[in-house]
Amino acid sequence: MSKRTRVFRVDPKAPQPEAIAVAGRTIRAGGLVAFPTETVYGLGANAFDDAAVAKIFAAKGRPANDPLIVHIARIDQLPQVAKGIPAQALELSRRFWPGPLTLVLEKAERIPANLTAGLDTVALRMPNHAVALALLRSANTPIAAPSANQFSRPSPTSARHVIDDLDGLVDVLLDGGLTPIGVESTILSLVDDPPRVLRPGGIPIEALREALPDLHYEPAYLADDVSPAPAPGNMLRHYSPRARVILFAGADDAEVYAAMRAEIAGHKRVGLLASDADAVEFADLEIPIERLGADADAAARRLFAALRSLDQQGMDCILARAPAKTGLGLALWDRLLRAAAGSLVEVPAGHTD
Ligand code: TXA
Ligand code: MG
Repeated sequence: MSKRTRVFRVDPKAPQPEAIAVAGRTIRAGGLVAFPTETVYGLGANAFDDAAVAKIFAAKGRPANDPLIVHIARIDQLPQVAKGIPAQALELSRRFWPGPLTLVLEKAERIPANLTAGLDTVALRMPNHAVALALLRSANTPIAAPSANQFSRPSPTSARHVIDDLDGLVDVLLDGGLTPIGVESTILSLVDDPPRVLRPGGIPIEALREALPDLHYEPAYLADDVSPAPAPGNMLRHYSPRARVILFAGADDAEVYAAMRAEIAGHKRVGLLASDADAVEFADLEIPIERLGADADAAARRLFAALRSLDQQGMDCILARAPAKTGLGLALWDRLLRAAAGSLVEVPAGHTD
Protein backbone atom coordinates (compact mmCIF):
# COMPACT_ATOMS: atom_id res chain seq x y z
CA MET A 1 0.00 0.00 0.00
CA SER A 2 1.34 3.43 -0.88
CA LYS A 3 -0.66 5.45 1.64
CA ARG A 4 1.48 7.66 3.88
CA THR A 5 1.55 7.31 7.65
CA ARG A 6 1.46 10.74 9.36
CA VAL A 7 3.78 10.68 12.36
CA PHE A 8 3.37 13.16 15.21
CA ARG A 9 5.94 13.44 17.98
CA VAL A 10 4.07 14.06 21.21
CA ASP A 11 5.05 14.74 24.79
CA PRO A 12 4.22 11.48 26.61
CA LYS A 13 3.11 13.35 29.73
CA ALA A 14 1.32 16.31 28.08
CA PRO A 15 0.59 15.52 24.43
CA GLN A 16 0.16 18.41 21.99
CA PRO A 17 -3.61 19.02 21.49
CA GLU A 18 -3.25 19.60 17.71
CA ALA A 19 -1.76 16.14 17.16
CA ILE A 20 -4.36 14.54 19.44
CA ALA A 21 -7.16 16.33 17.54
CA VAL A 22 -5.92 14.97 14.18
CA ALA A 23 -5.67 11.47 15.66
CA GLY A 24 -9.11 11.72 17.28
CA ARG A 25 -10.70 12.82 13.99
CA THR A 26 -8.96 9.94 12.21
CA ILE A 27 -10.58 7.46 14.62
CA ARG A 28 -13.99 9.11 14.17
CA ALA A 29 -13.59 8.88 10.40
CA GLY A 30 -12.95 5.13 10.55
CA GLY A 31 -9.16 5.30 10.20
CA LEU A 32 -6.32 3.64 12.11
CA VAL A 33 -4.17 5.37 14.75
CA ALA A 34 -1.13 3.82 16.44
CA PHE A 35 -0.53 5.20 19.92
CA PRO A 36 1.56 4.51 23.03
CA THR A 37 0.08 2.96 26.15
CA GLU A 38 1.93 2.19 29.38
CA THR A 39 2.43 -1.40 28.13
CA VAL A 40 3.10 -1.41 24.36
CA TYR A 41 1.94 0.60 21.32
CA GLY A 42 -1.63 -0.11 20.23
CA LEU A 43 -3.15 -0.09 16.74
CA GLY A 44 -6.48 1.64 17.31
CA ALA A 45 -9.83 1.99 15.56
CA ASN A 46 -13.34 3.01 16.63
CA ALA A 47 -14.61 0.00 18.58
CA PHE A 48 -18.21 0.58 17.39
CA ASP A 49 -17.28 0.64 13.67
CA ASP A 50 -16.97 -2.87 12.29
CA ALA A 51 -15.40 -1.68 9.01
CA ALA A 52 -12.70 0.20 10.95
CA VAL A 53 -12.16 -2.86 13.17
CA ALA A 54 -11.76 -5.00 10.04
CA LYS A 55 -8.91 -2.70 8.94
CA ILE A 56 -6.99 -3.61 12.12
CA PHE A 57 -7.09 -7.32 11.27
CA ALA A 58 -6.05 -6.58 7.67
CA ALA A 59 -3.16 -4.27 8.63
CA LYS A 60 -1.73 -6.73 11.16
CA GLY A 61 -2.39 -9.88 9.17
CA ARG A 62 -4.19 -11.06 12.29
CA PRO A 63 -6.40 -14.16 12.10
CA ALA A 64 -10.10 -13.44 12.51
CA ASN A 65 -10.32 -15.82 15.51
CA ASP A 66 -8.10 -13.62 17.71
CA PRO A 67 -10.25 -10.98 19.47
CA LEU A 68 -9.15 -7.41 20.23
CA ILE A 69 -8.99 -5.40 23.46
CA VAL A 70 -11.28 -2.37 23.82
CA HIS A 71 -9.83 0.71 25.54
CA ILE A 72 -11.91 3.22 27.46
CA ALA A 73 -11.09 6.51 29.20
CA ARG A 74 -13.57 6.39 32.08
CA ILE A 75 -15.12 3.68 34.24
CA ASP A 76 -18.58 5.08 33.50
CA GLN A 77 -18.12 3.98 29.86
CA LEU A 78 -18.27 0.33 30.96
CA PRO A 79 -22.04 -0.03 30.29
CA GLN A 80 -21.47 1.06 26.66
CA VAL A 81 -19.17 -1.88 26.04
CA ALA A 82 -20.18 -4.59 28.52
CA LYS A 83 -23.33 -5.92 30.14
CA GLY A 84 -24.16 -7.91 33.26
CA ILE A 85 -21.19 -6.16 34.86
CA PRO A 86 -20.39 -7.90 38.17
CA ALA A 87 -19.57 -5.85 41.29
CA GLN A 88 -16.14 -7.46 41.17
CA ALA A 89 -15.43 -5.71 37.85
CA LEU A 90 -16.19 -2.33 39.37
CA GLU A 91 -14.02 -3.03 42.40
CA LEU A 92 -11.11 -4.16 40.26
CA SER A 93 -11.42 -1.27 37.83
CA ARG A 94 -11.44 1.23 40.69
CA ARG A 95 -8.40 -0.42 42.18
CA PHE A 96 -6.30 -1.04 39.06
CA TRP A 97 -7.46 1.44 36.38
CA PRO A 98 -6.02 3.26 34.68
CA GLY A 99 -3.44 0.49 34.43
CA PRO A 100 -2.30 -2.71 32.70
CA LEU A 101 -5.25 -4.90 33.70
CA THR A 102 -7.67 -6.14 31.02
CA LEU A 103 -11.01 -7.52 32.19
CA VAL A 104 -13.03 -9.99 30.14
CA LEU A 105 -16.76 -9.42 30.59
CA GLU A 106 -19.98 -10.17 28.75
CA LYS A 107 -20.09 -7.91 25.70
CA ALA A 108 -22.62 -5.16 25.00
CA GLU A 109 -24.74 -5.48 21.82
CA ARG A 110 -23.02 -2.48 20.24
CA ILE A 111 -19.64 -4.22 20.10
CA PRO A 112 -19.32 -5.67 16.59
CA ALA A 113 -18.87 -9.42 16.21
CA ASN A 114 -15.57 -9.15 14.30
CA LEU A 115 -13.96 -7.31 17.24
CA THR A 116 -14.57 -10.23 19.61
CA ALA A 117 -14.01 -12.92 16.99
CA GLY A 118 -17.63 -13.97 17.42
CA LEU A 119 -17.36 -14.46 21.20
CA ASP A 120 -20.09 -13.06 23.45
CA THR A 121 -17.41 -11.68 25.77
CA VAL A 122 -15.18 -8.63 25.37
CA ALA A 123 -11.77 -7.66 26.79
CA LEU A 124 -11.60 -4.15 28.28
CA ARG A 125 -9.04 -1.86 29.79
CA MET A 126 -8.27 1.75 30.69
CA PRO A 127 -4.66 2.49 29.78
CA ASN A 128 -2.45 4.50 32.13
CA HIS A 129 -0.81 6.76 29.56
CA ALA A 130 -1.56 10.44 28.96
CA VAL A 131 -1.39 10.05 25.16
CA ALA A 132 -3.77 7.07 25.07
CA LEU A 133 -6.22 8.79 27.44
CA ALA A 134 -6.10 12.06 25.48
CA LEU A 135 -6.76 10.16 22.25
CA LEU A 136 -9.71 8.30 23.81
CA ARG A 137 -11.24 11.57 25.03
CA SER A 138 -10.68 13.30 21.70
CA ALA A 139 -12.15 10.43 19.67
CA ASN A 140 -14.99 10.27 22.19
CA THR A 141 -15.53 6.58 21.55
CA PRO A 142 -14.06 3.34 22.91
CA ILE A 143 -11.04 2.28 20.86
CA ALA A 144 -10.27 -1.30 19.84
CA ALA A 145 -6.52 -1.81 19.84
CA PRO A 146 -4.28 -4.85 19.68
CA SER A 147 -0.53 -4.38 19.88
CA ALA A 148 0.70 -2.44 16.81
CA ASN A 149 2.91 -5.15 15.34
CA GLN A 150 2.57 -7.54 12.44
CA PHE A 151 0.84 -10.68 13.72
CA SER A 152 3.19 -12.96 15.69
CA ARG A 153 6.06 -10.41 15.72
CA PRO A 154 7.33 -9.02 19.04
CA SER A 155 5.08 -6.26 20.37
CA PRO A 156 6.21 -2.66 19.71
CA THR A 157 7.63 -0.63 22.57
CA SER A 158 8.72 2.33 20.39
CA ALA A 159 7.35 4.25 17.42
CA ARG A 160 10.26 2.85 15.37
CA HIS A 161 8.93 -0.68 15.90
CA VAL A 162 5.49 0.41 14.69
CA ILE A 163 6.99 1.93 11.53
CA ASP A 164 9.10 -1.19 10.94
CA ASP A 165 5.93 -3.34 10.94
CA LEU A 166 3.10 -1.06 9.76
CA ASP A 167 4.45 1.89 7.77
CA GLY A 168 1.83 2.95 5.22
CA LEU A 169 -0.78 0.64 6.81
CA VAL A 170 -1.76 3.03 9.60
CA ASP A 171 -3.07 6.57 9.02
CA VAL A 172 -1.59 8.31 12.08
CA LEU A 173 1.19 7.36 14.48
CA LEU A 174 1.52 9.21 17.77
CA ASP A 175 5.17 8.90 18.77
CA GLY A 176 5.30 9.23 22.55
CA GLY A 177 8.69 7.60 23.02
CA LEU A 178 9.34 4.29 24.77
CA THR A 179 6.47 2.57 26.55
CA PRO A 180 7.13 2.46 30.30
CA ILE A 181 6.20 -1.15 31.15
CA GLY A 182 7.13 -2.97 27.96
CA VAL A 183 4.95 -6.09 28.21
CA GLU A 184 1.22 -6.22 27.54
CA SER A 185 -1.57 -6.03 30.10
CA THR A 186 -2.60 -8.87 32.37
CA ILE A 187 -5.83 -10.38 31.05
CA LEU A 188 -8.31 -11.50 33.69
CA SER A 189 -11.52 -13.30 32.82
CA LEU A 190 -14.44 -12.46 35.09
CA VAL A 191 -16.80 -14.65 33.07
CA ASP A 192 -15.01 -17.67 34.56
CA ASP A 193 -15.71 -18.79 38.10
CA PRO A 194 -13.28 -18.56 39.84
CA PRO A 195 -11.76 -15.60 37.96
CA ARG A 196 -8.95 -16.74 35.68
CA VAL A 197 -5.82 -15.06 34.37
CA LEU A 198 -5.66 -15.68 30.62
CA ARG A 199 -2.38 -13.85 30.05
CA PRO A 200 0.13 -12.70 32.68
CA GLY A 201 1.21 -9.12 32.09
CA GLY A 202 1.86 -5.68 33.54
CA ILE A 203 -0.13 -6.18 36.77
CA PRO A 204 1.59 -8.96 38.73
CA ILE A 205 -0.60 -11.90 39.71
CA GLU A 206 0.48 -11.35 43.32
CA ALA A 207 -1.23 -7.91 43.27
CA LEU A 208 -4.41 -9.40 41.78
CA ARG A 209 -4.45 -12.15 44.40
CA GLU A 210 -4.73 -9.52 47.13
CA ALA A 211 -8.07 -8.53 45.62
CA LEU A 212 -9.05 -12.02 44.39
CA PRO A 213 -7.76 -14.77 46.71
CA ASP A 214 -9.33 -17.57 44.61
CA LEU A 215 -7.72 -16.37 41.36
CA HIS A 216 -6.84 -19.13 38.93
CA TYR A 217 -3.86 -19.24 36.59
CA GLU A 218 -2.80 -22.21 34.57
CA PRO A 219 -0.64 -21.57 31.54
CA ALA A 220 -2.37 -23.08 28.50
CA TYR A 221 -0.36 -23.07 25.34
CA LEU A 222 -1.95 -24.32 22.19
CA ALA A 223 -0.53 -25.46 18.93
CA ASP A 224 -0.68 -22.90 16.11
CA ASP A 225 -3.52 -24.28 14.09
CA VAL A 226 -6.21 -24.95 16.69
CA SER A 227 -9.37 -23.32 15.37
CA PRO A 228 -11.49 -21.77 16.66
CA ALA A 229 -9.16 -20.88 19.50
CA PRO A 230 -10.81 -22.09 22.74
CA ALA A 231 -8.74 -19.56 24.71
CA PRO A 232 -8.07 -16.88 22.14
CA GLY A 233 -4.56 -15.59 21.71
CA ASN A 234 -2.92 -18.53 23.40
CA MET A 235 -1.23 -19.82 20.30
CA LEU A 236 2.21 -20.91 21.33
CA ARG A 237 4.09 -19.33 18.42
CA HIS A 238 3.63 -15.69 19.25
CA TYR A 239 5.92 -12.76 19.86
CA SER A 240 8.38 -14.60 17.70
CA PRO A 241 11.41 -12.99 16.19
CA ARG A 242 12.59 -14.51 12.92
CA ALA A 243 15.45 -16.20 14.73
CA ARG A 244 14.88 -19.42 16.62
CA VAL A 245 14.75 -18.79 20.38
CA ILE A 246 15.92 -21.35 22.95
CA LEU A 247 15.11 -20.84 26.61
CA PHE A 248 17.28 -22.28 29.38
CA ALA A 249 15.85 -22.96 32.82
CA GLY A 250 17.68 -24.10 35.92
CA ALA A 251 18.72 -22.91 39.36
CA ASP A 252 22.35 -24.00 39.14
CA ASP A 253 24.09 -21.01 37.51
CA ALA A 254 27.26 -22.89 36.57
CA GLU A 255 25.33 -25.73 34.92
CA VAL A 256 23.04 -23.34 33.04
CA TYR A 257 26.01 -21.32 31.75
CA ALA A 258 27.73 -24.53 30.66
CA ALA A 259 24.64 -25.71 28.78
CA MET A 260 24.26 -22.34 27.10
CA ARG A 261 27.93 -22.29 26.09
CA ALA A 262 27.60 -25.75 24.57
CA GLU A 263 24.60 -24.56 22.54
CA ILE A 264 26.40 -21.37 21.48
CA ALA A 265 29.33 -23.41 20.18
CA GLY A 266 27.01 -25.17 17.74
CA HIS A 267 25.78 -21.99 16.02
CA LYS A 268 27.30 -19.45 13.66
CA ARG A 269 25.01 -16.46 14.18
CA VAL A 270 23.86 -16.71 17.74
CA GLY A 271 22.91 -13.89 20.11
CA LEU A 272 22.08 -13.73 23.78
CA LEU A 273 19.43 -12.10 25.95
CA ALA A 274 20.93 -11.80 29.42
CA SER A 275 20.47 -10.04 32.72
CA ASP A 276 23.39 -7.78 33.66
CA ALA A 277 24.64 -10.47 36.05
CA ASP A 278 24.43 -13.29 33.48
CA ALA A 279 25.95 -11.11 30.72
CA VAL A 280 29.22 -10.89 32.64
CA GLU A 281 29.59 -14.66 32.37
CA PHE A 282 29.61 -14.52 28.59
CA ALA A 283 31.73 -11.39 28.16
CA ASP A 284 34.63 -13.39 26.67
CA LEU A 285 32.51 -14.56 23.72
CA GLU A 286 32.35 -12.51 20.55
CA ILE A 287 28.60 -12.71 20.11
CA PRO A 288 25.94 -10.00 20.41
CA ILE A 289 24.52 -9.79 23.92
CA GLU A 290 21.36 -7.78 24.63
CA ARG A 291 21.44 -6.79 28.28
CA LEU A 292 18.05 -6.89 29.95
CA GLY A 293 19.12 -5.02 33.08
CA ALA A 294 19.20 -5.88 36.75
CA ASP A 295 15.65 -7.00 37.48
CA ALA A 296 12.37 -8.19 35.96
CA ASP A 297 10.96 -4.65 35.56
CA ALA A 298 13.98 -3.56 33.52
CA ALA A 299 13.86 -6.79 31.51
CA ALA A 300 10.17 -6.24 30.72
CA ARG A 301 10.94 -2.77 29.33
CA ARG A 302 13.70 -4.13 27.11
CA LEU A 303 12.58 -7.61 26.08
CA PHE A 304 10.75 -6.93 22.81
CA ALA A 305 13.26 -4.34 21.60
CA ALA A 306 16.07 -6.80 22.35
CA LEU A 307 14.39 -9.57 20.32
CA ARG A 308 13.91 -7.17 17.40
CA SER A 309 17.49 -5.96 17.65
CA LEU A 310 18.98 -9.46 17.49
CA ASP A 311 16.76 -10.18 14.50
CA GLN A 312 18.06 -7.08 12.77
CA GLN A 313 21.62 -8.15 13.45
CA GLY A 314 20.83 -11.27 11.42
CA MET A 315 20.99 -13.85 14.20
CA ASP A 316 19.46 -17.20 13.39
CA CYS A 317 19.43 -18.31 17.00
CA ILE A 318 18.77 -16.44 20.25
CA LEU A 319 19.46 -17.92 23.68
CA ALA A 320 17.83 -16.66 26.85
CA ARG A 321 17.57 -17.73 30.45
CA ALA A 322 14.14 -18.33 31.97
CA PRO A 323 13.38 -15.72 34.64
CA ALA A 324 11.91 -16.41 38.07
CA LYS A 325 8.11 -16.50 37.77
CA THR A 326 7.39 -13.75 40.28
CA GLY A 327 6.20 -10.17 39.70
CA LEU A 328 6.73 -9.14 36.06
CA GLY A 329 8.94 -12.24 35.75
CA LEU A 330 5.86 -14.36 35.07
CA ALA A 331 4.92 -12.22 32.06
CA LEU A 332 8.53 -12.34 30.86
CA TRP A 333 8.64 -16.09 31.19
CA ASP A 334 5.36 -16.37 29.24
CA ARG A 335 6.60 -14.12 26.38
CA LEU A 336 9.97 -15.85 26.22
CA LEU A 337 8.38 -19.28 26.13
CA ARG A 338 6.12 -18.15 23.30
CA ALA A 339 9.03 -16.55 21.46
CA ALA A 340 10.83 -19.86 21.87
CA ALA A 341 7.73 -21.69 20.60
CA GLY A 342 8.12 -24.07 23.52
CA SER A 343 11.86 -24.72 23.02
CA LEU A 344 12.80 -25.01 26.69
CA VAL A 345 15.94 -26.71 27.98
CA GLU A 346 15.67 -27.70 31.64
CA VAL A 347 19.18 -27.87 33.04
CA PRO A 348 19.43 -30.11 36.11
CA ALA A 349 21.61 -29.11 39.04
CA GLY A 350 25.12 -30.53 38.73
CA HIS A 351 26.80 -32.81 41.21
CA THR A 352 29.93 -31.61 42.91
CA ASP A 353 32.73 -34.16 42.82
O1 TXA B 1 -1.31 -4.12 26.93
C1 TXA B 1 -2.14 -4.53 26.11
O2 TXA B 1 -3.06 -5.30 26.42
C2 TXA B 1 -1.98 -4.07 24.67
C3 TXA B 1 -2.23 -2.55 24.61
C4 TXA B 1 -2.20 -2.03 23.21
O3 TXA B 1 -3.42 -2.26 25.26
N1 TXA B 1 -2.87 -4.76 23.81
C5 TXA B 1 -2.70 -6.07 23.48
O4 TXA B 1 -3.61 -6.56 22.55
O5 TXA B 1 -1.80 -6.74 23.91
P1 TXA B 1 -3.40 -7.90 21.72
O6 TXA B 1 -4.38 -7.89 20.66
O7 TXA B 1 -2.02 -8.03 21.27
O8 TXA B 1 -3.86 -9.01 22.68
C6 TXA B 1 -5.24 -9.17 22.88
C7 TXA B 1 -5.51 -10.49 23.46
C8 TXA B 1 -5.98 -11.54 22.48
O9 TXA B 1 -4.93 -12.16 21.80
C9 TXA B 1 -6.71 -12.49 23.39
O10 TXA B 1 -5.75 -13.34 23.98
C10 TXA B 1 -7.25 -11.60 24.47
O11 TXA B 1 -6.62 -10.36 24.32
N2 TXA B 1 -8.70 -11.40 24.33
C11 TXA B 1 -9.35 -10.41 23.70
N3 TXA B 1 -10.67 -10.57 23.81
C12 TXA B 1 -10.87 -11.68 24.54
C13 TXA B 1 -12.02 -12.36 25.00
N4 TXA B 1 -13.24 -11.95 24.73
N5 TXA B 1 -11.84 -13.48 25.72
C14 TXA B 1 -10.60 -13.93 26.01
N6 TXA B 1 -9.46 -13.31 25.60
C15 TXA B 1 -9.60 -12.21 24.87
MG1 MG C 1 -0.33 -8.67 20.47
